[in-house]
Amino acid sequence: MKKTFISISQNDPKRRRFFRSCFLSTMLMLSAVFLCGSQFIVRGYKEKFLSLGLVDAMHNAISKNCEDQCRPEGTEALPKGIVSKTSDFVMQPLWGPRIQKKPKSSTNLLAIAVGIKQKESVNKIVKKFLSSDFIVMLFHYDGNVNGWRDLEWSGRAIHVSAMNQTKWWYAKRFLHPDIVSEYAFIFLWDEDLGIENFNIGRYLSIIRKEGLEISQPGLDPDYSEVHHDLTARDKRSEVHRKINKTIGGGRRCDENSTDPPCTGFVEMMAPVFSRASWRCVWHMIQNDLVHAWGLDFQLGYCAQGDRTKNIEIVDSEYIVHYGLPTLGGSAANKTNAEEQEQAAKNMSLPSSKQLAPSQSPPSDPRTEVRKQSFVELEIFKNRWKKAVREDTCWIDPYQKTTQQISKH
Ligand SMILES: *[C@@H]1O[C@H](CO)[C@@H](O)[C@H](O)[C@H]1NC(C)=O
Ligand SMILES: *[C@@H]1O[C@H](CO)[C@@H](O)[C@H](O)[C@H]1NC(C)=O
Ligand SMILES: *[C@@H]1O[C@H](CO)[C@@H](O)[C@H](O)[C@H]1NC(C)=O
Ligand SMILES: *[C@@H]1O[C@H](CO)[C@@H](O)[C@H](O)[C@H]1NC(C)=O
Ligand SMILES: *[C@@H]1O[C@H](CO)[C@@H](O)[C@H](O)[C@H]1NC(C)=O
Repeated sequence: MKKTFISISQNDPKRRRFFRSCFLSTMLMLSAVFLCGSQFIVRGYKEKFLSLGLVDAMHNAISKNCEDQCRPEGTEALPKGIVSKTSDFVMQPLWGPRIQKKPKSSTNLLAIAVGIKQKESVNKIVKKFLSSDFIVMLFHYDGNVNGWRDLEWSGRAIHVSAMNQTKWWYAKRFLHPDIVSEYAFIFLWDEDLGIENFNIGRYLSIIRKEGLEISQPGLDPDYSEVHHDLTARDKRSEVHRKINKTIGGGRRCDENSTDPPCTGFVEMMAPVFSRASWRCVWHMIQNDLVHAWGLDFQLGYCAQGDRTKNIEIVDSEYIVHYGLPTLGGSAANKTNAEEQEQAAKNMSLPSSKQLAPSQSPPSDPRTEVRKQSFVELEIFKNRWKKAVREDTCWIDPYQKTTQQISKH
C-alpha cells in the first residue's frame, strides 16, 4: 500500500501535496493497526488481525482519506494503473503482435460524411489522405457501406453508418475528444471537394509553422461555390486571415476588422482542427442541432487565444468546393448562403418564418433542410445568449469588438 501511494505521487506532481497527506495519514493508520495488532498477538488472536473485518476497516479509512480526488470520475473502484482514459482508431489484428501507438502529434484523422453518389470524389480524397498516414473514418449518411467494398482501401477505413444523419451529428457521437486525443489534427470534411491542388504534407507544415488551431484550405474561386469571401483563395499569398472588401449585407471588411466573417472564421465544409481546439468545439456542438448553423461564427472562442491570429485560410494549398446537392441538399446555393450569412451575423435575427421559404411544397427535402437550418440557427443563437447571461463566471474575450460593431 505504501509503495502504491509513493509511485502515484511521483507520477502526478500536481497532486503530490495531496498524496503526501494521504500517505502520512496512511502511515499513522498503519502504525495504529500494528499497535492494535501486537495487542491481539499478545492476547493470541492472530487470526483476528488477519481477518477481513480489519482489512475492511483499513480500506475504509484509506478511501476516506483519499476520497474521490485520487481517481478520475467513475474509476474509483479500479486501481489507477489499469484505467485507460482515452482511445484511438487503430485496428488491431486478431492475433500476433499488437500495432503500437505512434508518438503523439504524428498521426492525424480525416473524418468525412459520404454518400455512394460521391464515390468518385471521395475515393480521390481518401487515397490521398491514406498515403499521408491518416486514419480515415467514413460517415455513411445513406447507409450504403457495401458499395465501397470494392475499393482497395475500404478495409483500412473505419465505416460508420446511420441513415440520414449529418456530419455534425456523427462528429458529436463518434469523435469525442477522449476518443480522438491521439490525433494532432482532425480534418472534418464534406465529400464534394476537389483536392488536385492540395498537398497534405505541405498543408500540415504550414499550419504547424503558423500555429493555426483552426484552418481550412482556400476555395478556388474560379470553380467553387464560395459562401464567404474570406474563404476564397488569395493567389498572392500562402495564408490569409483578413479580407479588405465589401461583403454581403453591405458590410465592409478592412484591416481593422476583428469579427467573423471578416476574420477569425472558417466555413463548415472543410475545417481542420487542432487537438485542443477540437476538445473545445466538440463541447459547443449541440446534440439536437444537427445542421450546426451558427457554429462557424463562434469557432473563434475555441481558437486557444486570439481568433484573428490562430484561425486562417491556407491559400497555397487549396481545394474546389463543388457545392453538390448531398444529404438533404446541404450544399446551399449562393443566394441561400448570403441569406444565412446575414442571418448569422445579425444578433437580432428575424424569426425563422420570415427567412425560410414558405411557398415551397413540404415534400422537398432540400427546402425542408434549409428551413430546419434556419430554425436551428435561431435556437443556437438563443442558447448562446442565454448561456452568456447565466454564466456569471464567464468573460467574453471578444466583447469589446462586439460593442464596437453595435455602435456603428
Ligand atoms: C432518409 O431520407 C430519404 C430522403 O429524404 C428518405 O426517403 C428516407 O425514408 C429516409 N430514411 C430514413 C431511415 O429516415
Ligand atoms: C482596402 O481597399 C481600399 C479600397 O479598395 C483601398 O483603398 C485600401 O488601400 C485597401 N487597404 C489595404 C490595407 O489593402
Ligand atoms: C484602421 O485603424 C487605424 C487606426 O485607428 C485608422 O487610422 C485607419 O483609418 C483605420 N482603417 C479603416 C479602413 O478604417
Ligand atoms: C437557388 O436559390 C434560388 C433562390 O432561393 C432558388 O430559386 C433555386 O432553385 C436554388 N437552386 C438550387 C439548385 O437549389
Ligand atoms: C438584422 O435584423 C434586423 C431586425 O430584424 C433587421 O432590421 C436588419 O435588416 C437585419 N440586418 C441584416 C444585415 O440582416
